[in-house]
Amino acid sequence: MNSRSLLHSSVSRRLLRPVADLIDQRIERQVRSAVRRTGVRATPAARDAERLVRDVEALRHRQLTFELLLGPGGRGVSRMVGEASLEHLYSEVAALSGDRGAAERNVAAAFRLLVALESLGVGRIAGGTMNICGKLGTIPLLDPPNDEILEIGTLYGMFSAGLVRMMERDGRSPSLTIVDPFAGVQLQPGTDQRTDPTGAPVDEHAVRTNLALAGPAGAAARIRRGFSEDPETRAAVSDRGYGVIVVDGDHSAKGVARDLEWAEEIAVPGAIVVLDDYDDPGWPGIKDALDERLRGKTRFTFLGKAARSAFLRAA
Ligand SMILES: C[S@@+](CC[C@H](N)C(=O)[O-])C[C@H]1O[C@@H](n2cnc3c(N)ncnc32)[C@H](O)[C@@H]1O
Repeated sequence: MNSRSLLHSSVSRRLLRPVADLIDQRIERQVRSAVRRTGVRATPAARDAERLVRDVEALRHRQLTFELLLGPGGRGVSRMVGEASLEHLYSEVAALSGDRGAAERNVAAAFRLLVALESLGVGRIAGGTMNICGKLGTIPLLDPPNDEILEIGTLYGMFSAGLVRMMERDGRSPSLTIVDPFAGVQLQPGTDQRTDPTGAPVDEHAVRTNLALAGPAGAAARIRRGFSEDPETRAAVSDRGYGVIVVDGDHSAKGVARDLEWAEEIAVPGAIVVLDDYDDPGWPGIKDALDERLRGKTRFTFLGKAARSAFLRAA
């Protein structure tokens, strides 16, 4: 590559952009002060251009602050919301709940809660923003038959903390049970177990801290360390019927099939079962396992989906 084409390559352009920006800014400053010195009156177009430059500078500055609050830094995923995805989520939650106004209200409340919990808590809530807001917003609207909630696979316990708060906002008195191996990292067959993007350890201590953010009902949560398929784990928490079961543990087809089979036994009539990461191309086994169950003899009816979560109702 000769020196001319080297200078014009996209890599060089990207590398040199900060230098070019600096030169532009210096030229602009010198032109402005020259105009001031000579007393030449700026044309209306020049004044408009100058105002535009100032506005863009102010916006860039604000964007930086906004990025720190909602951007992917420190959690690996952005919490910025796109208009089309939000509209789509409203219609999915409205289709599930039959109430468009309530759908919009709950999704907005869930979004603010998500940002608040991730700002104050240890770790993060797993998954995309629309998926989290869809689950948190929809569950109370489906009017679960009792307040017993079971979450299979909790990571940092922060989703459960949010769900407790959303249920309370709906006048409910949630009682929470959580099952997770707390392996120090997010256990998932077939994936490498990297440190979490937040840098926080996945342990029971973090979960307790996050649950405390949800007030007395969060602090009173029952936490069972273990794998959901283990008979001892199941025996320890199968002492009651659940009105809400969130299946978000082992994401393999076999693991989901096992959890759904268990859910059939411990769900009270009318219970809501939420299956996370349903129809996610990254986790094909989840949809396969649900389709398989719905083809056979089951108490569950498929109500619909919101973002990447399927909602079922037990007969
Ligand atoms: C996707 S994360 C859960 C995210 C959490 N529900 C949330 O919304 O933030 C999956 C969790 O399930 C746990 N897990 C993996 N296999 C499990 C099993 N067999 N039983 C229970 N939990 C399991 C993982 O260690 C991890 O903490």
